[in-house]
Parts: sequence; C-alpha cells; structure tokens
Amino acid sequence: MEYSEETFLQHLAPTNPFPFLIPVERAEGIYLYSPDGRRYTDFISGIGVSNVGHRHPKVIDAIKKQLDKHLHVMVYGEYIQSSPNLLAKKLASLLPPSLDCCYLVNSGTEANEGALKLAKRLTGRTELVSFKKSYHGSTHGSMSVSGNEIKKTAFRPLLPDVRFIEFDHIDDLRHITTHTAGVIIETIQGDAGVRVPSQEFMKQLRKKCDETGAMLILDEIQCGMGRTGTLFAFEQFGIVPDILTIGKAFGGGLPIGAFISSHGRMKTLSHDPMLGHITTFGGNPVCCAAALSTLEVLTEGNILEEARRKGQMIESLLVHPLIREVRRAGMMFAIDFDSEERVQHIVKAALDNGVIGFWFLSHPYSFRIAPPLTITDEQIRESCDVILNAIKNS
Ligand SMILES: Cc1ncc(COP(=O)(O)O)c(C=O)c1O
Repeated sequence: MEYSEETFLQHLAPTNPFPFLIPVERAEGIYLYSPDGRRYTDFISGIGVSNVGHRHPKVIDAIKKQLDKHLHVMVYGEYIQSSPNLLAKKLASLLPPSLDCCYLVNSGTEANEGALKLAKRLTGRTELVSFKKSYHGSTHGSMSVSGNEIKKTAFRPLLPDVRFIEFDHIDDLRHITTHTAGVIIETIQGDAGVRVPSQEFMKQLRKKCDETGAMLILDEIQCGMGRTGTLFAFEQFGIVPDILTIGKAFGGGLPIGAFISSHGRMKTLSHDPMLGHITTFGGNPVCCAAALSTLEVLTEGNILEEARRKGQMIESLLVHPLIREVRRAGMMFAIDFDSEERVQHIVKAALDNGVIGFWFLSHPYSFRIAPPLTITDEQIRESCDVILNAIKNS
C-alpha cells in the first residue's frame, strides 16, 4: 500500500494547488474509507459519478462476469461484442426513436468532441453556438465551447467561429442562424451552479434549431443518469435533442461516455471521410457491462421517483438564515452563501466531521451537493445535521 502525500504530490501531475488529499482505501455505497479507518460520506458522488453508490453489487457482478470473458479485443467499431451490443440496445430502448444509435467513447469531453464534429459534418457549417458560464470539458474542442474565459486564455487559439449567448434568455436565440452547425447546451447547467432553464426557453431553443437546421446538442454528462429525478433531464422539458451526450454516472464508476443520435445521422461519420471519429478504447467491454447494469439499476424499481422525494427532503432539512438561495434539480444542489470564504469554511468543517461537499469551479460561493441516489433517509438526516452544524459555525 502506498498512501504517502509525498508520492502523490511529486509523481502525480497536479490539477490545482489545494487538492483534497483524502487517502481512500475502499468505498462502498455512500461511504469512502481511509486506511486509518475514518469514514466519509460522499455527498458529491465523486462529482456526479456514483449515482448508484460506490461498488453497487449489481455493477460489481456485471464487471466480474465480463472480466472472465474478455477485456479489450479490438478498437471501437470493428468486432461484434456482446457487452457493447447489449448496452446500445438498452440505451435505444430508453430513448426516443430519433436517438437510437450511440457512439461509445471514454469520457464526457470526448462525447462532446464527437457531438461537435457530427454537427459540423451533418450541416457542412462551421459556427458553433454555446452558452455563457457553460462547462463541456477540458480538451480543445470542448474547452472552446465552454464559457469560463479565465480558464481558456492560456490555451488559445481554440476553435474559431464559436459564439456565446446568455443561458435562459429567449432574446439571445436570434444569434442561432442558418450559419450555425450546432448549439451545445447543458440541459441543466452544472458548473455554473445548477441553473435550470425555463420550459419556454427550451421549447424556443428547439424551435429555433428546427427553423435554422442547426443541430441541438444536449450535454447531460452531469445532469443525466437520474441525477435530476428522471433518467435524462430533457424528459422534463418536452423536447428531444438531435444529439445527446452522456458520461460520468453512465459507467457506474468505470470510465465511459457516449454521443447519441439517429442511425441515419451517425453513419455520416463512416464515410467522406471514413473513420470520421475513431477511438481505441471506446466501447470497452468491461465499461459497457458496468454501464448496462447501472442503467438497469436506474430504471428497474423506483430509484428515480425516490430521487425526487429525497431531493425535496434534503431541501427541507437544509434551512438556515445564512443560506442566500438554493437551486435544485432532483438531487443536484447549489446552495449560495455570501462569500467564497464562507463556502470554503463550510466545506472544511463538514469534511472534518466526515461529510464531503464541494463548490463549483465557476461559481465558488455555492456549496455543492449531489449525493448518491441510493442514500437512505437516515443517512440524509445524519449528513444534513453535519452540514447544518458546519453552516452554523461558519
Ligand atoms: C456538463 C459537463 N460536460 C462535460 C464534462 C466533461 O466530462 P469529463 O470530465 O468526463 O471529460 C463535465 C465534467 O464535469 C460536465 O459537467
């Protein structure tokens, strides 16, 4: 075993100057365990990943069964393997008919890269429209359509021809024109601090894309997979995207993403030029087995209905005069305070008492919570007590 901070800090490339540095030996359900026996409640699901909890028994079982058959055998798109086949069929059964074909990739950002390329390929246009304060990933294309200017400066030039408009502003939809290849939007903005658009805005957005022929790309990498109380957040707006992207919780703890559209649209990536998008590990059979069992857990039983109830329960428990505003979609929360410092204080105090919360990169004065959907009422009460105490002492 090797849990030394020195090794971590010296030999693993850092992403920021203040990493959490919690040593994790194992994880089960909603809990992470340190080698010294400390238990932490994961109230952020590893940032939107562990929607069915850590090591869900059905997910583990599916992984083990696939391990005994085969691991990687070929790059994506060549051999017929049961595990990706079953996953693709299941996804198609859960989505509208116009989203019947998935391209399996390795991460959220790669799903968005594929979606942006598909929109350009389908329309023959170059312009991309995105939204201020959005986050779509950290590779060059996804970063180009992400709203956080400070994060982008050091990496320019990025993609040309990207236009940013205001989220949830119907007026701004006029900037979507017949020059627009695709419009990419998080159905519910995550990193911006859980921003839920109006029904009318989403309807007008769909209409504008229909009128101009622009591809509507819904990024549900963070808000999908049951997080907001329905399997996909777009179900709550009565619209269907042309292209859907998913990731994070999709793999139940293993890395997998997908961009999804109709078979007719997807097949354009196979010619003129052929191999329009390729990936070695996309559709990895072990990840697909984990994703299929995750989908089964999310859709069999009442976990989604329960997520809606538990979201309300958390909201009704977390009441305190220092809270400025709560924004919530199902079990995805942003809780606003008066300052970034206060949020940091609350995160630290909660952590000292065994509950992991976080903030948002683009919205640091919000406390972030998104617990596993499998959390029990008792565990919710215990965790909310810890958070309330952290708020009181902040
Ligand atoms: C809405 C959204 N899109 C895309 C991504 C990028 O996903 P990944 O980190 O798997 O590349 C994220 C990650 O936080 C996200 O929240």
